[in-house]
Amino acid sequence: MLSKKNIKEIRNQFPILKEKIYDKSLIYLDNAATTHKPKNVIESSNFFYSKINSNVHRSMHFLSKKATISIENVRKKVKKFICAKHDSEIIFTKGTTESINLIAYSIRNFINQGDEILISHMEHHSNIVPWQNICDLQKSILKIIPINNNGIIDLNKFESLISERTKIVSVCHISNVLGIINPIEYIINKAHELGAWVLIDGAQAVSHLCLNMQKLNVDFYVFSGHKMYGPTGIGILYGKKNILKRINPYQFGGEMIKNVDFKKTTFSSIPFKFEAGTPNIEGIFSLGEAINFIKKIGLKNINCYEKELVKYAIKKLNELDNIYIYGKSNKIYTKSSIISFNLNKLHCFDIGSILDRLGIAVRTGYLCAQPLMNFFNVNGMIRISFSIYNTFEEIDYLFNSLIKAIKMLKYYE
Ligand code: ALA
Repeated sequence: MLSKKNIKEIRNQFPILKEKIYDKSLIYLDNAATTHKPKNVIESSNFFYSKINSNVHRSMHFLSKKATISIENVRKKVKKFICAKHDSEIIFTKGTTESINLIAYSIRNFINQGDEILISHMEHHSNIVPWQNICDLQKSILKIIPINNNGIIDLNKFESLISERTKIVSVCHISNVLGIINPIEYIINKAHELGAWVLIDGAQAVSHLCLNMQKLNVDFYVFSGHKMYGPTGIGILYGKKNILKRINPYQFGGEMIKNVDFKKTTFSSIPFKFEAGTPNIEGIFSLGEAINFIKKIGLKNINCYEKELVKYAIKKLNELDNIYIYGKSNKIYTKSSIISFNLNKLHCFDIGSILDRLGIAVRTGYLCAQPLMNFFNVNGMIRISFSIYNTFEEIDYLFNSLIKAIKMLKYYE
């Protein structure tokens, strides 16, 4: 496992961790919302604009060729990072949300009246609303895979819901609320037996688990750069080559065309037919640096260290009276680096505000998952989420701060 010294060296690469929040050291536990950026990522933005800046795939001049080669190298790097087979299976988007919308609208013509789309009860709004809209447009039916009280997908119910009418199953790899790692291999195999496509929302997985698209045999896998130490506004859609070739573009304009005529326009080949307009060139460039950062530490090391943090945090949190942690793992399903909880009747916003004044950044509220909040019959949760720069000492500080917050709020009860 990574040593204290390793973690200290890693922390030194993140300038923001030295910031003071209300005169307190920053304890950043909101990594599921976005991670901070290491120096190499921050500096790459400056480097790009100082040395390379130009539009891509368009002009013949030196800088344009340099910019084009730079971002196409990142495409190759992403392909390698997630073990995809072809460069053309990697599409640059704005983020996870755009990637899901892209697929929803691009496969629309394959979904007919009465067809079904399956999602789970633990999805983020971005993996619910696009499908609701497709169901409205196509007169198809959205079905929800239930979860049990531990926040685990009910695979028996999943099996009874999926059928030949199911056109796509779209579920998260790791819930952004529960931190539960879903049995996506099982879901993918079952869906394929019945001829359905599968989209996996990997936003909360990509910087925590080793991914292998070829082994997973998934049809679409989506994630964002900003949750993996990269910049905001850049995301990835992985899609199987043979499917991407068959489906329609989602946006239209420059760069995605082969030939434009007022009578008829033909589209470019993949991946370019899905990348209309000037892309976030600097974002792509810096995403390459984020991958370098992760690879240097190694995803296995990251995973191993974060697991210990989670184990320790759950142990400490369970020492608090009246705490309820959502999403319990068992032998088959494991828990990733997200823990959401409530403290009896204390309001999550009150706890979040006190923690904030003590320098601790957590997320509180619906966590972009209102149906899941309704399932647990709560109007919000407190969420802590870890990344590689968090420490055991920070968990101790959180624990003591929670005791303080509980005392303060009890006093006013
Ligand atoms: N999807 C992000 C979160 O869960 C914003 O916080």
